[in-house]
Amino acid sequence: MEVIFNGHAKSGRHLLHIVGSPRKEGIAASIDVAEQLIETWLSQDSSRTAYTLDVWKTDLPDFDGVALEAKYASLAGVEMTGDVAKVWSRINEMGQLFHAADVIVMGVPMWNFGIPYRLKHLIDAVTQKNVLYTFDGENLVGTLGGRKLVIVAARGAALGGDYPEKEFDFQLAYLRTWARMVGINEVHAITVEGTLFGPEADAAARGPARESARELGLVL
Ligand SMILES: Cc1cc2nc3c(=O)[nH]c(=O)nc-3n(C[C@H](O)[C@H](O)[C@H](O)COP(=O)(O)O)c2cc1C
Repeated sequence: MEVIFNGHAKSGRHLLHIVGSPRKEGIAASIDVAEQLIETWLSQDSSRTAYTLDVWKTDLPDFDGVALEAKYASLAGVEMTGDVAKVWSRINEMGQLFHAADVIVMGVPMWNFGIPYRLKHLIDAVTQKNVLYTFDGENLVGTLGGRKLVIVAARGAALGGDYPEKEFDFQLAYLRTWARMVGINEVHAITVEGTLFGPEADAAARGPARESARELGLVL
């Protein structure tokens, strides 16, 4: 199947970079580490392409009454018209960004043990029946199978001790569950922990994460 991406036929492999941090490029740990991977990945083959979806700069459709009408109409298989059809078309357009990608790189700051609300907004808007999953009569079947997901999880402090990962991680654990829901089986996680304890600790946290990102960029 030929995937049309931004009006052009896609020739080489394609990467979708989802930016979850509103901090500036060059400062945000999640963007910094993700970019190491993306630069390495792109440099392997000149036919490869990448597209950035920054959840803080993208006009995400309000997930309000109209969008919910679209969601429930899709679940019920009911035809949509007017504003409901319009929002559904925008949701499908965003879904295409995921389908067009062979590799999805998500840069995700930990916020209050979870993920930033704009990233959750994107996920709630786009994770829809006939967009990222279908039903086979009994089960939900994700339609992003075959894609690889890399989650760059940035954290101000390390989990553990009084904050055991098992109880306090609503960042990586949630995104792994989402990946399963949409059919992505290959998930790689790179964590950058301890970015909040001054420039030296921040640099020490980023160093190995950047290295892991470059290594992954060579093999994905
Ligand atoms: C609203 C908010 C909530 C945060 N909550 C947590 C948290 O629960 N645990 C943690 O380790 N760090 C927390 N942090 C710190 C960030 O995870 C840390 O600064 C990280 O580097 C952010 O990623 P970025 O540099 O890519 O933006 C929080 C930061 C903000 C702005």
